[in-house]
Amino acid sequence: MQYVYIITIGLHVMAGVFWAGTTITLARDPEIRAERFIGPQMGAAGMVFLTGALLWYFFHGAYFGSMEMVLALGIVAAFAAAGVLGTMVRRTSTQLAGADAATEPALRAKMAQGERIAAWLLVLTVLCMATARMF
Ligand code: HEM
Repeated sequence: MQYVYIITIGLHVMAGVFWAGTTITLARDPEIRAERFIGPQMGAAGMVFLTGALLWYFFHGAYFGSMEMVLALGIVAAFAAAGVLGTMVRRTSTQLAGADAATEPALRAKMAQGERIAAWLLVLTVLCMATARMF
C-alpha cells in the first residue's frame, strides 16, 4: 500500500508545483503568451484536485482537526484560483482568435490580471499545504 501513497503524493506535489509555478511566472511576466499554458495549467489543476481528494481519503477521512482546517483553507484558495483561471484566462483566451488589434491588449490585460489573482491564491494554497502538519 505504501507505494500507492508515494505515487499519489508525488503526482500531487509535481502537478501542484507546475500549476502554482507557471501561474506565478505568468503573473510576473504578462509578455509570455498565457493562452499557450492555460490548457496544461487546468490539466495540472485537475490532477491536483484528484490526488488531493485521494490524500484526504487516505490520511484524514472524516476527522476535522486543526491540520484539516489549514488544509481546507488551502483547498478553498485552490478552488478559487481554478475558478479565476477558468473565467479570466481560459474564457478570455478563446476570444483572442477573433479579436482585432484594438481589443487584443484589453483581453491580454484581463488575462494577466487573472494570472495575478490566481497566483496570490495559489501562494496561500502552497503555504497551507506545506505548514498544515505543524498545526
Ligand atoms: C497548488 C496546489 C497545491 C500544492 C502545491 C500542494 C502541495 C502539497 C504538499 C507539498 C503537501 C505535503 C505536505 C506534507 O506532507 O507536509 C500536500 C498535502 C496535502 N494536500 Fe495539497 N497541494 C495543493 C493543492 C491541494 C488541493 C486542491 C487539495 C484537495 C483537493 C489538496 C489536498 C492535500 C491533502 C489532503 C494533503 C495532506 C496529505 C497528508 O496528510 O500527508 N492539496 N499538498
